[in-house]
Amino acid sequence: MKAAVCYSSSSGNTKAIAKAIGSAVSIPVYDIRKNERKDDSYDFLFIGGPIHIGNLDRHLRAFLETLTVDVVKEIIVFSTAQKDDFARRLIDEIVSKKNIKVSSEAFFCQGKFSPFKKNIPAEVDIKAAEAFAKRVLG
Ligand SMILES: Cc1cc2nc3c(=O)[nH]c(=O)nc-3n(C[C@H](O)[C@H](O)[C@H](O)COP(=O)(O)O)c2cc1C
Repeated sequence: MKAAVCYSSSSGNTKAIAKAIGSAVSIPVYDIRKNERKDDSYDFLFIGGPIHIGNLDRHLRAFLETLTVDVVKEIIVFSTAQKDDFARRLIDEIVSKKNIKVSSEAFFCQGKFSPFKKNIPAEVDIKAAEAFAKRVLG
């Protein structure tokens, strides 16, 4: 079973969760904005990025457009945006056309969106992300 984490992050929330998932299940973590992912074939990719003004981050969107079912069989979405399951639905809209499965399992926690919400994702979110990754890949 081959898996990796691919993330895009502007202000660091998604990056923190990506790193937690990667270290919890000992899989590589790739920054989409740096084109770090190797040309390879994966059973699972954990994929996450911010929502900006009701839409997926443009880097994440462009990355999803490049994926084929030969590259990844199943995507597991994680998100630190404000609406639970919104990112999962947006990602599914892009990749389902290409017969890439999006898992019904997804991880969400609220990212830091305003100066009044500091230190989010909190330690509790990091722990929850680690537990999530262990459970879905377990
Ligand atoms: C300019 C801007 C617009 C945003 N628009 C939305 C939005 O429409 N819906 C939403 O759920 N979150 C929205 N967010 C919240 C981000 O998706 C959220 O803070 C996320 O954790 C950012 O991830 P990052 O720190 O990895 O970049 C917005 C944030 C910014 C800065």
